[in-house]
Amino acid sequence: MSLLSVPTRRRQIYEGKAKILYEGPEPGTVIQYFKDDATAGNGAKKDVIAGKGILNNRISAHLMTRLETIGVPTHFIKSLNMREQLIRQVEIIPIELVVRNIAAGSLCKRLGVAEGSRMPRPIVEFYYKNDALGDPMVNDDHIVTFGWADPYEIEEMVNLAFRCNDYLNGLFAGVNLLLVDFKLEFGRIWGEQGELYIVLADEISPDNCRLWDMKTKEKMDKDRFRQDLGGIMDAYQEVAARLGIIPREALVSGTFNENLMSSLEEIENELSEARTMRALNKTKPKK
Ligand SMILES: Nc1ncnc2c1ncn2[C@@H]1O[C@H](COP(=O)(O)OP(=O)(O)OP(=O)(O)O)[C@@H](O)[C@H]1O
Ligand SMILES: [Mg+2]
Repeated sequence: MSLLSVPTRRRQIYEGKAKILYEGPEPGTVIQYFKDDATAGNGAKKDVIAGKGILNNRISAHLMTRLETIGVPTHFIKSLNMREQLIRQVEIIPIELVVRNIAAGSLCKRLGVAEGSRMPRPIVEFYYKNDALGDPMVNDDHIVTFGWADPYEIEEMVNLAFRCNDYLNGLFAGVNLLLVDFKLEFGRIWGEQGELYIVLADEISPDNCRLWDMKTKEKMDKDRFRQDLGGIMDAYQEVAARLGIIPREALVSGTFNENLMSSLEEIENELSEARTMRALNKTKPKK
């Protein structure tokens, strides 16, 4: 498969800024295709970073698989190839949850806090997913009043977000990366008895996490693109290499090369065979 090839036969459900969704092989499943497109400032800034989609696919598959092991339900079913993963189709809850451990980005601008300030406890923020409005920040009153999610769904999302934060903080700290903040999306799946499952959806990758090198505080995430720092591929590759999901010997600075692609293909196949469909076991919280 060429680096830039896009599958054409399947029915496309949605094309977003970073991914394309295709109809999956079974009802209730979707194929998520990771593009190389990078955008910032709600699409105001755009570029194509060759190989980014391959790394994000791999990093997100890895992190979601790890989160499943601690009982966080996710949409991830299995990796299909370097750019695609099979996922459960969910009804996306139109709220983005941002978990912050260290002050950065919009929080600094909004509140005049210095970037890098460590906060005594993590903060969860809600943003209404609406491109036309620029994804405005909202609170739980807005979410319930406008019917975007019910109170028990908010509670579930917040609980899951904190569990993800605790786990991912440890995981990244283990490879000398500081998890500064990250964004999560959740979705609803209904079981046969009408029971509700809230599952983690979308992606977790350096596109929606801020990751700093523990010692140097060097930025290793999409801020390299937002702030024109350059070296975005090197940074994403370094994150993947530290996580142990791409072979370090295949890395060549500044590019995404053939060696790396063939070794990735081998890893992907192993991963696909190791994973099977799993029934979700959460039921609608009683309140
Ligand atoms: N499991 C899932 N089932 C259905 N939709 C999903 C699932 N996971 C993610 N999505 C949605 O698929 C789209 C992924 O595409 P992408 O991230 O490129 O969108 P985007 O340009 O960021 O736009 P959006 O503002 O809709 O997020 C998003 O709209 C996301 O909410
Ligand atoms: Mg998105």
